[in-house]
This record gives sequence, structure tokens and C-alpha cells, in this order.
Amino acid sequence: MSKQSTDPAWKDSLREFKGPPLTDDVTCDVCVVGAGIAGLTTAYLLAQEGMNVVVVDANASPGGGETRFTTAHLSSAIDDRFAEVIRVRGKDAARLAYESHSAAIDRIGDICRAAGIECGYRRVDGHLFPAPGDVKTIEDEYDAAMAIGCDVRRLERVPAAELGPGPCLQFRNQGTFEPSRYTAGLWAAAARKGVRFFGKTRARDVDGGSPVAVRTDRGGTVHAGAVVVATNTPVHTRFAMHMKIAPYMTYAIAGPVPRGSVPDALFWDTADPYHYIRLISATEQPGLETELLVVGGADHRAGQESDPVRRWDDLESWTRGRFPRFGEIWYQWSGMVMETLDGLAYIGVDPTGEENVYLATGDSGMGMTHGTIAGILLTDLIRGRANPWAELYSPSRLPIRAAGEYASEGANTAAQYKDWFTGGDVKSVDEIKPGTGAVVRRGLTKLAVYRDDSGAVQIRSAVCPHLGCIVHWNRAERTWDCPCHGSRFRATGEVIHGPSTADLARNDS
Ligand code: FES
Repeated sequence: MSKQSTDPAWKDSLREFKGPPLTDDVTCDVCVVGAGIAGLTTAYLLAQEGMNVVVVDANASPGGGETRFTTAHLSSAIDDRFAEVIRVRGKDAARLAYESHSAAIDRIGDICRAAGIECGYRRVDGHLFPAPGDVKTIEDEYDAAMAIGCDVRRLERVPAAELGPGPCLQFRNQGTFEPSRYTAGLWAAAARKGVRFFGKTRARDVDGGSPVAVRTDRGGTVHAGAVVVATNTPVHTRFAMHMKIAPYMTYAIAGPVPRGSVPDALFWDTADPYHYIRLISATEQPGLETELLVVGGADHRAGQESDPVRRWDDLESWTRGRFPRFGEIWYQWSGMVMETLDGLAYIGVDPTGEENVYLATGDSGMGMTHGTIAGILLTDLIRGRANPWAELYSPSRLPIRAAGEYASEGANTAAQYKDWFTGGDVKSVDEIKPGTGAVVRRGLTKLAVYRDDSGAVQIRSAVCPHLGCIVHWNRAERTWDCPCHGSRFRATGEVIHGPSTADLARNDS
């Protein structure tokens, strides 16, 4: 296992399973676009109620998107903190948020039992501990958590002394699991209930109505009573949601620690960006002869870090400064988080008013529980049942007290268009070393130039097909990342993450 690997600590459990592409039209009750935890949970729960469900995904296998890059903290303690949710949305909303995430952790356990999924799912305590000197945030969060009836205790000391003296907050009944094995089990359970999966099939257009039509890049169209767009970021709207979500990259490293030296629990601190910590044990990865410590954090706006490798270095020094027995890094990876204005996902009826179109996006760093909430809530909405969380997660909301966040993330996005008027990363293609990429100015436009390990050069337009920002080279993952709304492309230009549904244009000049 090399330190240079950018694979997560989880095996790709569904790699061998390949869904056929959708080359013909199909008809179903519900079409789910996106086979991550939100899409698969929705498909499974709808199929459990006898609905005929089709899932399409741009990846060959289910679970091949951002879900694979989670560190799988199952938490009902909102990571943007209850004090902030109360400030922006009020006390009742914060209480509902806590209850819905608690219900999601319960539901994951129920699904594991009902479907016989062995993924190391277990209940653990979660702990919010102070960044050096930041005790006030702990006290404020304790007051906020108590005010909404959260099961929380204030501890004088952090149960892992390496993380500082405390005080800290202990949230009971949180959880964790191995996400890839959970996703694989969830897919198997959905398939047993008749859910059909079409892989390497990208949804190009969603036309609401009765029926809905989902047109794909493989020629087939899904005609359905309803569609759920459960991609990490919506691919069916150009503007509507993208002004309310901001893409961030987050980083993780994992390496061995002596068995029993770190408690099996969740930890996260009050730093900005914050650090998050958990263990991988043999209950999740049978045959594992040690325990692995996973440390994540070092977040930044996607496409806006000139040296992303440094983020892993920062995490490593932070970890070694606290856990001297942390061994060699076995895994390091990054993932994308879609942040919302109030720390809560957007789940519900599509705000564009397209009939029978639903969406789930804005994981806000709590993708496993938000994805599960999406499955529960969307199943209720599609089945015509009332759900107490519908207003909380409504994609149409624009909380007035989040105006500051709205303005600052919007200004950040707008500022990225300055790239049209600057020079390239390098003056000449000759300066680009093998295995790297750089943006090169040519006349009025810019090119994304990649030189592969053999020295061959691939040239694409550097203009993002979504809304025209200039992509940036990500040397950590060898991708082109858009700094505006988070589209990502392979070094050779093929789109791997929306909202763009198109590849970087070929440069035929
Ligand atoms: Fe919107 Fe690139 S993702 S312009």
C-alpha cells in the first residue's frame, strides 16, 4: 500500500458488478439518477413498497461516486453545530435536524439487520473537542444541544488524551460502518426487490411531467411516474441549486495504530476547517491485523488550492503531533463535500417547479445520514405521505439569516471568472512535466494541457462546459477541477463529477 495511492481505505466492493448501459427506452414508477447512498436508499425503500424502480448512474457500478470517499461518521450532532442551526433556522428546526439524523442512524441499523448486511455497523459515542484555546465554542454548543433536548454530556477530559485536555461534549448513540460494504449490501437488497441498474449512463436532461422523461447519453430514455435526482450535485439544473451550494474538497489519511490505543469512537474539533477522527477495526475489514486511525479535514473550496498534496501533509503532521504511534500512511484520499447555507441538505420537490421531479443534494459533510434521510423523506413524498422533515429540508428555502454565507460564497464564485483575464500556469507546453497538467493561454482562450507519463500531450479546452469558468489542475488526483460549482474532469478531459454533464471540449485548432 503506497502513500501515493489516492484510494480510500475501503475496498470497492461492487467493482466486479457492472450494470449494462441504457441503450433502449424503459418505463418504471420511479427513476433514480445517482447510485450513491441517497439514491440507493431511496430505490430500496421505494421497492420495499412495491414500486418499480430504475437507477441510472454515470459510473459502471453502484456506489462508485462520492459515497466511496466518505469517512462514514454517522452523527446526529450537526457538524456545523447546533448553535449555528439555531441562529439560522431556529430552535425547532435544530431539534428536527437532530431527530432526523438520529432516525437515519437507526434506519441504517434496521436496514443492516433486515437485509443481512455485514459492514461493521456499530454504535459509538461522538465527541466535539476544542481546538487549542477554544473552550467557549464547547460551552456555547453545550447550551445549544441541551436547549433542543439532545443526548449530550459535558466531559472535563477528552476520552482520547492525545486530543487535548478538554472539556469536550459527548454525544451518545452515534455510529459508524464500512461504507463500501454497506453500499454493496444495500444494492444487493434493492436488486432482490427488483430494482434495475444501468451503469455508464449519464442523465443528460430531465423533463418533468406525467410521465417524466430522463434522457441519457447512451440513447435510452427512462419514462417514469417520478424522478429523483440524487447525484452529489444536481445535473439537471444550470442555476437553480448551484447558487445555494458550494463545493469543497476534503482530505483523509489512514494508518495503523496499536490495537486498543485509541477508543472506538468519533471525534471532531472546533477548528475551521475542522479535523475528524475515527477507527477502522477488524469488525469492518475482516482479517485486518491492526486498527487503522482515519483522520480527515483540511477542507478548501474545490479547485482553489494550488498545491492540494500539501493538505495531506498538513493532516499528517497534525496527526503525528498527537498520535506518536501512528504508523505509515496506508491510504490517503480526497472527496467532495457540497456545503449548503445552513448546514442541512436540500431534499424534496425540485424548486424549478418541474412536475414529479425530486432531488437530494448538499450533503454538508454528513452524507451518510443526509443520504439516508433522503431515502426516508423522498419515499414519503413520492407515496403522498406527510413527513415532519419536509419543510426543514425543502430545496426551495433561502434562510434570511444565511444572507452573509450566500453573499460570500456567491462572491467567491463570481471572482473565479477573473481567470479569463490572467495568463496561463505556464508559458509553453514544453514546460509541462510528464504526469502533470497546466493551463496554457492561447489567444483569447485557455487550454487544459496534460502530459501523460509517457510524454504524450492531450489538449482540451480549459473552459468548463457548465457555466464557463476556467478549470484548474489538481495534482493530487490528476484531475481538472472547476473552482465555481465543482465540476471535475479526468486529466484527459472526460467529466467525472457534475454539474457539468459534458466533457471538456476537444481542441481542434
Ligand atoms: Fe459551474 Fe464549472 S461547475 S462553471
